[in-house]
Amino acid sequence: MLTPFQNEPFGNFDSGNRRAAMQRAIRHVAGQQGGTYPLVIGGEHIITERKLASINPAEPKKVVGYVSSASQEHAHQALLAADAAFRTWSRTPVSARAQVLLRAAAIMRRRKEELAAWMMHEVSKNWVEADADVAEAIDFCEWYARQALALQGERQPLVPYPGEFNELRYIPLGPGLAIPPWNFPLAITTTLTVAPIVVGNTVVLKPSPRAPVMANLLVQILEEAGLPPGVVNLVTGEDAVIGDFLVDHPLVRFIGFTGSKNVGLRIQQRAAVRQPGQNWLKRAILEMGGKDAIIVDETADLEAAATGIVVSAFGFQGQKCSACSRAIVVEQVYDQVLQRVVEKAKALRLGNPTKPETDMGAVIDQRAFDSISQYIAIGQEEGRLVCGGEVIDHELVKDGGFFINPTIFADVKPHARIAQEEIFGPVLAFIRAANFDEALAIANDTEYGLTGGLYSRSLERLERAREEFHVGNLYFNRKCTGALVGVQPFGGFNMSGTDSKAGGSDYLRLFTQPKVISERF
Ligand code: NAD
Ligand code: ALA
Repeated sequence: MLTPFQNEPFGNFDSGNRRAAMQRAIRHVAGQQGGTYPLVIGGEHIITERKLASINPAEPKKVVGYVSSASQEHAHQALLAADAAFRTWSRTPVSARAQVLLRAAAIMRRRKEELAAWMMHEVSKNWVEADADVAEAIDFCEWYARQALALQGERQPLVPYPGEFNELRYIPLGPGLAIPPWNFPLAITTTLTVAPIVVGNTVVLKPSPRAPVMANLLVQILEEAGLPPGVVNLVTGEDAVIGDFLVDHPLVRFIGFTGSKNVGLRIQQRAAVRQPGQNWLKRAILEMGGKDAIIVDETADLEAAATGIVVSAFGFQGQKCSACSRAIVVEQVYDQVLQRVVEKAKALRLGNPTKPETDMGAVIDQRAFDSISQYIAIGQEEGRLVCGGEVIDHELVKDGGFFINPTIFADVKPHARIAQEEIFGPVLAFIRAANFDEALAIANDTEYGLTGGLYSRSLERLERAREEFHVGNLYFNRKCTGALVGVQPFGGFNMSGTDSKAGGSDYLRLFTQPKVISERF
């Protein structure tokens, strides 16, 4: 009998055992850098000659690991292995499948600090963010294990019919793809991998080339948890080589993707094309970007609002789909909120994320650094720079780390590029609104619809926002990041995705098809 689901607690690192454990893990992981990692196909570990180097964003001369680089033939073999494993895995009792997830959660819990330390090196998450990412991965395993058991036992109530027994059951789809982004390299990689398999599908996991070591660690954990060969196959490699190839492959039955709008749209388009030998419609579950806004009105607790904006905008260097990149503030309190936000942003400490005091690490790589820098240049034309910009502490960048200061532009117009395009970095646009009505209209005037926030003490406005603020995850009087599994099922509208809710009670059904069986007696 399973205990009821509970979210994994976050670490308190102020002092004591957890702080010491994290410091030990950081030292241990520092000594493990530069290893070689295999592809995993049908349970076989394959080291390819050609490798991709995963670099440490804070110290780019340091290689976190060399991962094997899959060819199209490897990708093809991985799908064949997933297809073969589907025949037995789809008929494995759900209790055994759920058991693998529960064991994986237990292993992650045991290795919590170590996994967090890997993330500090590979994607530059600080202690708090890395710990939260591991906790979320554990939650996903625990949550989907329980959800799968419930779904299996569930019989949709059907209208009784004389002389017949009718039932509706949820069956798996087949082999599919898990294509996660790099920014939650354990949590989202886990959700896209374990949700499909616990309901009987098999998966080819193609992680981002920007965080492939974390995906390798996940697959090792699943193997240790008893996952049979072929159920999860790992192909690390270059998108230009295996990306379209995998999406187009006729054996693919579903695609679970989280990433940018452009790649999501490309996948949707390609997945819609029937390939020779393909006897099904590919199901594409696509979760994409955001241009998330926090509104502050004149009734709000301004100090709480400023804190919420800073955490949401600059946590993990603004590299979250849920990050606040637009602060929309009504005229009456605009200057006060701006001043408080700037003060708090200036107090943030940039540094190596392995240091406990670091608030912000580096952005993921040179490509991201260049793209964010270009937006900062655009911002100089579109707004008034009040914080950050290009001034970087010389000591920090001496090793070439991709550090960008928290950057704020004031007086940005709602249709400016920095107010409409996802920057995916620590850049915040402050937008002035005449009143709450205008603020709400500006917030909704975007192609995205992922997260949104409102700081207000007006019950009437909270009610209006409940109805009219068109986002998948809406937060009142708190930050707009950090959705908890089971508590705030997560996913957005419009160009933010296909309206799924990771960590919700209906998520697993996306990887199933309902079958109705009628027996006359
Ligand atoms: P990305 O779109 O560049 O990459 C996402 C994944 O797609 C990676 O695994 C990448 O290797 C792969 N990919 C790239 N080209 C491909 C192709 N042609 N075929 C198949 N796969 C391909 O995104 P990213 O930079 O990794 O992640 C950041 C983006 O993800 C942001 O836009 C962010 O908002 C979004 N995101 C959304 C959510 C959400 O839940 N909505 C969560 C996290 C991140
Ligand atoms: N699920 C993540 C959050 O809520 C992206 O911040």
